[in-house]
Amino acid sequence: MSDNEGYVDGLYDADDMLERVKSGIEAEGMPSISIAEGYGRLLTLLVRMSGAGSVLEIGALGGYSGICLARGMEEKPGGGSLVSLELLQAYADVAARHLAEAGYGGVAEYIVGDAKQSLEMLKRQGRRFDFFFIDADKEGYPVYLDYALELASPGAIIVGDNILLRGRTTDDAKQGPAVQAVRSFNERIARDPRLESTILPGYDGLAIARVRG
Ligand code: DHB
Ligand code: MG
Repeated sequence: MSDNEGYVDGLYDADDMLERVKSGIEAEGMPSISIAEGYGRLLTLLVRMSGAGSVLEIGALGGYSGICLARGMEEKPGGGSLVSLELLQAYADVAARHLAEAGYGGVAEYIVGDAKQSLEMLKRQGRRFDFFFIDADKEGYPVYLDYALELASPGAIIVGDNILLRGRTTDDAKQGPAVQAVRSFNERIARDPRLESTILPGYDGLAIARVRG
């Protein structure tokens, strides 16, 4: 974390709920790779400011970002809806438990398995979402963007985490499949005429786009 990131994070009181979630993730032996604190706050703000009532998250891990997303829908009827796609049943169970502990048990629905198959199912069902948060396997980012565009309601927001891959994205010597996929994702976020967007280079980078229409 940079000095600037540490400074701004230090301005905020500790978020007891999110600290408990981080400890829970560690205690379960899961990787400590939840979204950066500042971007968690941004997720809540973006959901609330956009008025989204239905959120699709790709990659649940332990529910840290899920809580940030659900917080942004608190004023919505029934607290909105969060559909979260997670490869591993064990992770989905931890995330569901954390969401319930945070008071969002009735809001979150977990679909376990390969996200691409779950996305295809949601597409066949004609489901639409106001907000997408992409934070799963990095090789899948371009396909997840394709599906987000297909499942988007007009004006939907698409956010992608870790678009700098801890420096690998900008290192020409790195040419592995995850790096190439994230570079392609970033280029499409910036250039696809269906999107207006920005990319924040703080922490590990965050892409934010709005689907025109
Ligand atoms: C890492 C961080 C993430 O937020 C993620 O989604 C995947 C990997 C990492 O730092 O390795
Ligand atoms: Mg991430």
